[in-house]
Formats: sequence, C-alpha cells, structure tokens
Amino acid sequence: QNISMVGVPMDLGQNRRGVDMGPSAIRYAGVIERLEALGYRVEDKGDIAIEKKDAVKASPKNLSNLYAVTKANEKLAETVASIYEKNAFPLVIGGDHSIAIGTIAGASGYFENLGVIWYDAHGDLNTAQTSPSGNIHGMPLAVSLGMGHPSLTNIQTSKPKIKPENVVIIGARELDAGEKDYIRQSKMPVYTMHEVDRLGMSEVMRRAITYLEDKCDGVHLSLDLDGLDPHDAPGVGTPVIGGLSYRESHLAMEMLAESDFITSCEFVEVNPILDEKNRTAEAAVALMGSLFGEKLK
Ligand code: ARG
Ligand code: MN
Ligand code: MN
Ligand code: MN
Repeated sequence: QNISMVGVPMDLGQNRRGVDMGPSAIRYAGVIERLEALGYRVEDKGDIAIEKKDAVKASPKNLSNLYAVTKANEKLAETVASIYEKNAFPLVIGGDHSIAIGTIAGASGYFENLGVIWYDAHGDLNTAQTSPSGNIHGMPLAVSLGMGHPSLTNIQTSKPKIKPENVVIIGARELDAGEKDYIRQSKMPVYTMHEVDRLGMSEVMRRAITYLEDKCDGVHLSLDLDGLDPHDAPGVGTPVIGGLSYRESHLAMEMLAESDFITSCEFVEVNPILDEKNRTAEAAVALMGSLFGEKLK
C-alpha cells in the first residue's frame, strides 16, 4: 500500500512556540525509512503553508488566530482528499492539534460513517463559549462534531464530519467543565486513565475496536503525544502527569494494526523546543511503526 505523508507546521492553535517544528523533528527521527522498511511506498508531500499570526484585533473573542488556522485547515482538507483520490493512506504530522479539523474534514468525505479514535490527555471538545484558553487546539473534536465557529465547521461542507457515537476517546485526564457536560449528554465512549488502570490497555482497545468496527466504514486515529505520560513524551506544550506509558501506547498501536481498520492518522503536538533531545518525535515514529504493522511483518 502507498502512504502519503503531509506535514502541517502549525503553532497558531496554542500559545507555546516550537510545535511548528514538529514535522521536521518527526522526519529527522526517520519516519520515511521506518515505514519503507515495512514494505510501504511512502510519498512525502512536504508541508502545508501556514500564514502569519492573525493581527491581534482580527480574531473573534476566544478564538486565537481563527483566520490563519482556518486557511491551513482548508488546504489540509483538500490535500487529504487528494491523497484518497490517489488511493493512498493519509499520514498527517503536526503541528498542534487544531490540524485535526482539516484532516477529519478531508477524510470524512470518503466514508459514510467515519469513526475516530482520539488518543489524548484532553477532550479537545471546547468551543469559544467553553474554552478556558481561546486556543483552537482545544477545539478540533468539537468542530468535527459540528460545534464551533462557522469558518471552522464549514470547511469542505457545512455538515458535521462525524457523529458523537462514532468517537472513542482514550487517555483523557484533563477535561474542562463544558467538555464533561458534552460527554455526559452525548454518551460518547470515553476511556479515561481510570478505565485504563482498571481494565488494562488490552481490554480498553479490545472494547474500542469491537465497538467501532461494527458501525464504521473507516476509522481515523488522532494521536496527541500528550496522551502519553510526560516521562515518555516530554516535548509537548500541555503535558499532564499520570498518562499512558510508552508500552501501553505500543500495545494500542499493535492492536490497531491487527484490527486493520485504520484509514487515516495524524500524530500531533510534538514540540522539539520543549523536548529532551528528540525523544518525543522518536516516540511518535516508533508508534507509527507499530501502527503500520511492525510486529506483524
Ligand atoms: N482544554 C485546554 C484548552 O482548551 C487544553 C487543550 C489542550 N489541547 C491539546 N490538543 N493539547 O485550552
Ligand atoms: Mn492533548
Ligand atoms: Mn489534543
Ligand atoms: Mn512514568
């Protein structure tokens, strides 16, 4: 199979500089070589161009850099769609998590019922009304569900890109009040660290896979490196202690490889400025190895 990789050097969805260098760090950690060694043909489409920071007054309240973030996500959505047109697998590397808006918008056009696995310490279910920060990287899952500023929810189509019952969150441990309210009323399946501790990652993944494979015709993996414990992935802008281990994360990726149902993925929030050496990008590349079947090949 062919993999088409696209970098999104976006740092405008949050306020710690450096995450725009994530795509370089991931390339430097050997992503292409790692996947080629598994027998894939990997095309590197290069990076999406990111505009300058919005002028201070230009962004609506609690939506920092809305216009630059929108522009980049429009381009990313088109790029992801063009990758499917060529029958390749889209692999997106970030960049902050606001880029999930574009990846999911681009992928959702190719499936009736796109599922999403959101591997993250956070829910990213905020809107301008609930966000404590105004940072759009805390909003992409909400936007994909159809909630948020129209310039974001209208990318590709004005319809919601995914349904709440097709989303599974794994690794959550820092949810804001508005996010908890939404989860409660939508009945979205969420495996917080509590469930991972109780059930073990193996059972969590078994349940997530069984649940999604029945209802979805494609599944996107959105992996925020801050889902991992900061000991294992220190180079992230919003670290939260008590996270998923490196080993648990490999097991999760290996089980997804066995399930053979992932149809697109993104690895986000790698910030080399905050990292120790290049450990976090290296962890991302190692996890990609497992996701693309290193154990099976
Ligand atoms: N919930 C917080 C906020 O809305 C943090 C979001 C962190 N998101 C991320 N993709 N790292 O600002
Ligand atoms: Mn996060
Ligand atoms: Mn996130
Ligand atoms: Mn630890």
